[in-house]
Amino acid sequence: MPPHRRRRRFRQVLLIAVWALGVAAVVSVVVFAFSDTGPSSTPSDPELIAAGAEVFAANCAACHGANIEGTDSGPSLLDPIYAPNHHADAAFFRAVRQGVVPHHWNFGPMPPRPGLSNEDIEAVVAFVRSKQAEAGVTFDPRHG
Ligand code: HEC
Repeated sequence: MPPHRRRRRFRQVLLIAVWALGVAAVVSVVVFAFSDTGPSSTPSDPELIAAGAEVFAANCAACHGANIEGTDSGPSLLDPIYAPNHHADAAFFRAVRQGVVPHHWNFGPMPPRPGLSNEDIEAVVAFVRSKQAEAGVTFDPRHG
């Protein structure tokens, strides 16, 4: 190829590269704008809390009470020991997946709750945290 044609070729390739970069930038902005925020949704997400309320009613309320206030079969999750600084979200995943050996109360063990997805548990945690926040249970002072 003579030099002048090579230069033209180079310019064409450069143009295509710049154009492709531009398209990639636009596509990524659009994808980002429409992407689901996923598991990092905050507990103040009303849809997540509403979904969690349903999962809780069907799977947890029999023991922990419809409003997480506790029953004869399980403790109130409004007790400050269940505040996020003492029982972090991971404790909820563990409780649902593995069950709980009694260690705080005398209700007996909590059996595992099979059949709940990570999204279900995440929603339950959002629901519980919103109820705790309503009741001012956000910190267990005994746990630092
Ligand atoms: C059959 C009754 C029962 C059901 C149903 C139940 N729990 Fe429990 N849960 C218990 C009891 C009892 C304890 C307390 C055990 C102890 O520490 O003495 C407990 C403890 C917990 C704890 C504290 C775990 C820890 O690390 O100390 C969490 C969190 C919890 N339950 C969440 C849930 C969630 C979420 C559901 C529904 C998906 C649920 N539970 C369903 C009985 C139940």
